[in-house]
Amino acid sequence: MAAPAGEIDAALAGQGEGYFTSKGCTGCHTMTEERLIGPGLQGVTERRPFEWVVAMVTNPDSMLANDEAAQALYAEYETPMVNMGVTQEEARALYEYLRSHE
Ligand code: HEC
Repeated sequence: MAAPAGEIDAALAGQGEGYFTSKGCTGCHTMTEERLIGPGLQGVTERRPFEWVVAMVTNPDSMLANDEAAQALYAEYETPMVNMGVTQEEARALYEYLRSHE
């Protein structure tokens, strides 16, 4: 998957917003800077590369086992991000939604 750039695809971001609710992301994340169980996700697409965000969303277990930045977050939040069974396609839509909150 190529890293998205340029204008937000509003339809895709809308789909992502739907997944953000239906997949239960809202239980642990706000779209502001406010911390819940996990970090507030406003600006996350500026702090992290596209591939990193997709990997964190589709395969958090592997990220927590192998990725230093994910491990540092875990040390801070003391809760693992759980695997929500997100597909690559869903992750792409979620990313577009996150990208609309930079
Ligand atoms: C059970 C709580 C929980 C759920 C549900 C959850 N997350 Fe997380 N998430 C976390 C925690 C806690 C972290 C911090 C890293 C860690 O400790 O694993 C995190 C980290 C992240 C990060 C990296 C944040 C940063 O600042 O770099 C992203 C992006 C993210 N989650 C997206 C999602 C999306 C999208 C969903 C829904 C598919 C989701 N999360 C569902 C708890 C959760």
